[in-house]
Amino acid sequence: MAQTVRKAVFPVAGLGTRFLPATKAIPKEMLPVLDRPLIQYAVEEAKAAGIEHFIFVTGRGKGAMEDHFDRAPELERTLEAAGKTKELKALADLLPDAGSISYTRQQAPLGLGHAVWCAREFIGDEPFAVILPDDMVKSKVPCIKQLVDIHAKTGGNVVGVMDVPRDQTNKYGILDVSEDDGKLAAIKGLVEKPKPEVAPSTLSIIGRYVLLPDVFEHLGRKEKGAGGEIQLTDAMARMIGGKPFHGLRFEGERFDCGSKIGWLAGNIALAFDDPEVSDALKDFIRKRM
Ligand code: G1P
Repeated sequence: MAQTVRKAVFPVAGLGTRFLPATKAIPKEMLPVLDRPLIQYAVEEAKAAGIEHFIFVTGRGKGAMEDHFDRAPELERTLEAAGKTKELKALADLLPDAGSISYTRQQAPLGLGHAVWCAREFIGDEPFAVILPDDMVKSKVPCIKQLVDIHAKTGGNVVGVMDVPRDQTNKYGILDVSEDDGKLAAIKGLVEKPKPEVAPSTLSIIGRYVLLPDVFEHLGRKEKGAGGEIQLTDAMARMIGGKPFHGLRFEGERFDCGSKIGWLAGNIALAFDDPEVSDALKDFIRKRM
């Protein structure tokens, strides 16, 4: 039987250059989507998938995230005195259990693979999830839960994938597939950001992974790949051929909230479902079109 996935790594050290100047003084993960910061969606998704330990790989200037997931006694007292119970509950709901959240710093921007490697001591010898908060997924079943469920069956590595237009393969980790039933694809190769002409497929990794701890061995070699960075995709590629390795076409809609258009679309998609703002927003858009 596959081991339970209890821990998740959130690589959140990135500078957010695509969103400057908004992200000059606040982490990009703190940009709000509708009514909560991006990072909160990622943590809530992990929680809903049964994750018990949340490991943030942060960097300089990312302190706002630690404050966000901590008590705020002064604010709580003020809300209490004003009888704002709804707001108080929203704060209480987002608070992780004491000790269930850990932070470590990636001291230099050496790549996603290096960021994940920084979490190795927290993970130890068990399978774990990786969630890139920039990729927000709106779905019925939390995206990472869909991957965890596949891992429970296969006992192997699983990455969340979707088809992208061929001219965009150079933005993603791309799968080379041996078998594919339309939902689950067995992986025989992985390439980080290949040019469209040489990409083995258009099936791309989005920021959801369930990985076996063996990946740390490969990451520990610190070999540089695409863009001169230590790539998670390269370390994953080295695990192919051992335990099962699959790409799952998850159910749901993915928004790249690290880009302006993805962030705007994500906001609108969530707002359309929110009874408080939906009608007014639709009205506004109709008038503008
Ligand atoms: C990272 C990964 C890439 C993956 C992508 C998903 O790239 O390296 O394999 O497809 O996330 O968003 P980044 O977007 O950090 O350049």
